[in-house]
Amino acid sequence: MGPLGLGVTFVTLPLVIRAAAGGQWCYDSQDPKCGPSHWKELKATCGGDKQSPVNIDRRWLQRDGGLGDIIFEGYDQAPPGKWRLLNDGHTVMLSLESEPGAEHIAISGGGLPGRYRALQLHFHWGSPSRNGSEHTVDGQQLPMELHIVHINVKYRTLGEAKGHPSGLAVLGCFFQVSEAANSNYNTIIGGLRNISHAGQAVDLASTFRLGTLLPHIAQLSRYYRYQGSLTTPDCSEAVIWTVFEEPVGISREQLQAFVSTVHFPASGAAPLKMTNNFRPPQPLRSRKVFSSRDATASCGCPRCPFAPLLLLPLLGPFSSSP
Ligand SMILES: *[C@@H]1O[C@H](CO)[C@@H](O)[C@H](O)[C@H]1NC(C)=O
Ligand SMILES: *[C@@H]1O[C@H](CO)[C@@H](O)[C@H](O)[C@H]1NC(C)=O
Ligand SMILES: [Zn+2]
Repeated sequence: MGPLGLGVTFVTLPLVIRAAAGGQWCYDSQDPKCGPSHWKELKATCGGDKQSPVNIDRRWLQRDGGLGDIIFEGYDQAPPGKWRLLNDGHTVMLSLESEPGAEHIAISGGGLPGRYRALQLHFHWGSPSRNGSEHTVDGQQLPMELHIVHINVKYRTLGEAKGHPSGLAVLGCFFQVSEAANSNYNTIIGGLRNISHAGQAVDLASTFRLGTLLPHIAQLSRYYRYQGSLTTPDCSEAVIWTVFEEPVGISREQLQAFVSTVHFPASGAAPLKMTNNFRPPQPLRSRKVFSSRDATASCGCPRCPFAPLLLLPLLGPFSSSP
């Protein structure tokens, strides 16, 4: 019995490892057995110390005067050619890679150590009953979050960039529900019904100025910055994160289009709507979240170190009430 038991152990162990390595990751809304809490079993990096997203606690921001204006290249013109929108089974992704020789859409400045070329953008959202951003602000999720992924131009491939802490730069934008529809999102939202099923792709009717997807231009110098990771496996800790303070407005109907049009990969009989495709906040550990030069001041920033002291005498008379 003993030797046989051992033999079985030695045979099954490699099989289990292989199953995990080739295993699929998912969100809890698809199947809790492969959701975010299991990702580190597939990829150890997902259990690392510099993971994303994080909660942005505005009480503990550290202002960095070196985080000035980001320089946006190619964000203000619709590039020639086509943009392909894809349901990759986890999100809706718009590929932004241009043909060789074409002008690149790129960012630099804003404290970034170099120039970064846009690769793709995608979204994370919730469900009809809950918000679905990945980053949270003071513990609150917003309805949806846009990520525009850029690669440091000094690296040729994503694989190479993933090996360096500053290999990638991702811009994150929150959404909030507005009364009016945001027509800048019409092209993307119009393409959703063509990619209802996982694996489907559609060439969008037209390209557009990428900058129109971002918060108002006057607000783009207000952002949060920290060192983190991709928010999906393999969770590479290779991302300089920029999360804009100002959310983008989108109507409830437009938000609903994401929540109700696209589906996860079919596993059972009925296709499952793609909802809650966000990773929850990860521990900040020894990291700091910095606020840009122009970000809205909050106490805890070096700019107003004496504010709590000045408030003390004012609070005094009220402190006896509970
Ligand atoms: C959802 O997002 C809205 C902003 O559009 C916010 O007002 C609300 O508090 C959020 N709800 C939760 C439960 O975080
Ligand atoms: C997208 O779907 C609509 C119908 O839902 C169809 O009329 C249109 O031709 C499709 N577009 C592409 C490019 O497949
Ligand atoms: Zn993302």
